[in-house]
Amino acid sequence: MQTPDPRTRAGSRRDIAVLTSALTLEEKAALSVGIDNWRTASFARLGIPSVKTTDGPNGARGDIRDHVSITPSVCIPSASSLGATWDPQVVEQASAIVARQAREKGCRVLLAPTVNLHRHPLWGRNFECFSEDPVLTGKLAVAYIRGVQENDVVATIKHFVCNEVEHERNTCSSDVDERALRELYLLPFEYGVRVAGVLAVMTSYNRVNGNFVPDDARLLDDVLRKEWGFAGFVMTDWSGIATTLEAAKAGLDLEMPGPARAYGPALVDAVRSGQLDESHLDQMAHRMLTVFDQVGALDDPPTDEHPEDREEDRAFVRHAAADGMVLLANDGLLPLSASGLGRVAVVGPNADRLAIMGGGSAGVTPHYVLSPLGALRERLDSATEITYATGVAGDGVADAVSIQAAVDAVQGADAVVLMVGTDDVWESEGYDRESMELPRNQDELVRRVLAAHPRSVVVVNSGAPVSLGWADNAAAILQTWFGGQELANAIVDVLVGDSEPGGRLPTTLPMCIEHTPAFGSFPGESSRVRYSESLLIGYRWYETRRLPVRFAFGHGLSYTNFEIGIPRPSVAKLEPGGSLSVAVPVTNVGGRRGAEVVQLYVAAPGAGQSLTGGRFRPLKELRAFAKVWLDPGETTTVTLALNERSFAYYDIADTDWPALCARLPGSVYNHGHAPSPLHRSASGWYVDAGTYRLCIGRSSADIAHVVDVEVTGSGSPLASSLLPQ
Ligand code: BGC
Repeated sequence: MQTPDPRTRAGSRRDIAVLTSALTLEEKAALSVGIDNWRTASFARLGIPSVKTTDGPNGARGDIRDHVSITPSVCIPSASSLGATWDPQVVEQASAIVARQAREKGCRVLLAPTVNLHRHPLWGRNFECFSEDPVLTGKLAVAYIRGVQENDVVATIKHFVCNEVEHERNTCSSDVDERALRELYLLPFEYGVRVAGVLAVMTSYNRVNGNFVPDDARLLDDVLRKEWGFAGFVMTDWSGIATTLEAAKAGLDLEMPGPARAYGPALVDAVRSGQLDESHLDQMAHRMLTVFDQVGALDDPPTDEHPEDREEDRAFVRHAAADGMVLLANDGLLPLSASGLGRVAVVGPNADRLAIMGGGSAGVTPHYVLSPLGALRERLDSATEITYATGVAGDGVADAVSIQAAVDAVQGADAVVLMVGTDDVWESEGYDRESMELPRNQDELVRRVLAAHPRSVVVVNSGAPVSLGWADNAAAILQTWFGGQELANAIVDVLVGDSEPGGRLPTTLPMCIEHTPAFGSFPGESSRVRYSESLLIGYRWYETRRLPVRFAFGHGLSYTNFEIGIPRPSVAKLEPGGSLSVAVPVTNVGGRRGAEVVQLYVAAPGAGQSLTGGRFRPLKELRAFAKVWLDPGETTTVTLALNERSFAYYDIADTDWPALCARLPGSVYNHGHAPSPLHRSASGWYVDAGTYRLCIGRSSADIAHVVDVEVTGSGSPLASSLLPQ
């Protein structure tokens, strides 16, 4: 199977086979490793220029000095904010801005998107990933990759795979069972490769089931290349390689950065000593040059950085940030009026040191930043008096005094906006958070302010879930995530109703850390992280285990109201090889324009039960969604597409079964009960026959309609050509 060509460019411009064969052994080895932090080698005699890579997901970082980008970049919302948009179009437009900026920085390879999953709320890089759900992540990754590659920049999907902890990330092993690996953690990568035709993959630092990924021929060759048809190149995470032979044989193409640790000269030695066939180097060079040629990088040497700050990018990023904001609670307090408000008390550290992005390699230097306090001052009418109290001190020691000053400030105020959260130090690559509580006594600040002024708006500026233990006492809570350089303006837009809070939770907000699926197996011990919850990530866990949550996956309020009408499936029975679409009418029954996200979850027969001889299925799983914007009174019909993969599970096969039966022939120990027929000899995606429930609603916990469909199931593995829908 061929990876779809994501680009419209007609064919390749250079004969890559000829070019590869013209490279000497030393040149091929030199191409296999960066010449510095970001660039690949150039070969003037063959007209092969250097190709420059850049981080990262929320902006094109370009060259860095002291970990900070030297030239500014448009900072788009971080991935958990983009995930909350549930809108592939927004994601595609946002990544297109990053790709254009990458070009302005002379780069042709973007080190994004990050598609690992929100397995645990304390993982330091949750902000950099879209969701806890692999289908939402996969579909948004497809959009992100398209936005990048349509602009002739290589997208690099990362980190392949199971990179869901920072603690000891370079050594730990993510120990995950094969079914969870396929159904959850590999799925976003499968979307990226098979649906979007991503051109590069970055391996993760961690091991998977004991094997370092750059050395893992099963993952890199069997799954990625042979099963999925990946035709691009595979690079390491930065310095994430230790072996020469294993990695080259597994199919790892590029070591980054340079100078070499394992590739380069060591590959020459390996070939000369007869340990490695030179054909491996031919393939590596061929794959890299093919991709470089596909995006036109062979005709475009890196230039100096000249990023532009465009009005239209600012406007788009501002809308995108609002589209991802989730209005968690609102008893009618929001939106505030922009005029005649009287005295507004603004409280909280994040009002004047806004967190627009997380820390680590995703960090960029934005063209400019504005604080929400500044944005409020600009937007509210001049008759409004705005006071500000930070509420917590920097070191957490003088907090009682600070908190009291904030409580005094909100007494008698006409409106209170309380802005709390984390920042790029509390949420960062390289380490995990230690607690879900807000840092620096901010939970205490919120409790005290809510007690003094119950009708305060609480704005939560974090990239990942925080505990929200005071949520029941808050009249309005707005989750803003790390919304990029325009976040301050977007917050004010939503507060005063200029913009709809368009987001829905891409990740469950739990009651407490002890309820979370990976509690007890995060961040791991003795270099092992056991994915002990297996299939039950996120809402799959809370629902199947019947645990209460603070706010459910998919939840988010609008400033208007919607009615979801009766869904109509295109067929009542899904036959083998068939597909199914569900038409769902949606009406805006409120008084202003707004956005609704229609979500479709599939519940398999017997879901959530331990079935003797059957397959365990989570209670229900997201399989399709659509976001619509409607004027008051307007109705539209969304179409949600499903295919057999939407009903399938991955069967790991039981090849030991015949030998197990032969060991005790005629055994009576089963007391006459027939063994399960599901001891299959071939692994793959299977669909069991039965009645499946399609649960359609506005969150995993708010289901408006349930429709039954019969699924026939052929008993055979699904065709390998069937893409995840
Ligand atoms: C990160 C990658 C990043 C790379 C280059 C690594 O530490 O894990 O995501 O692309 O650095 O900055």
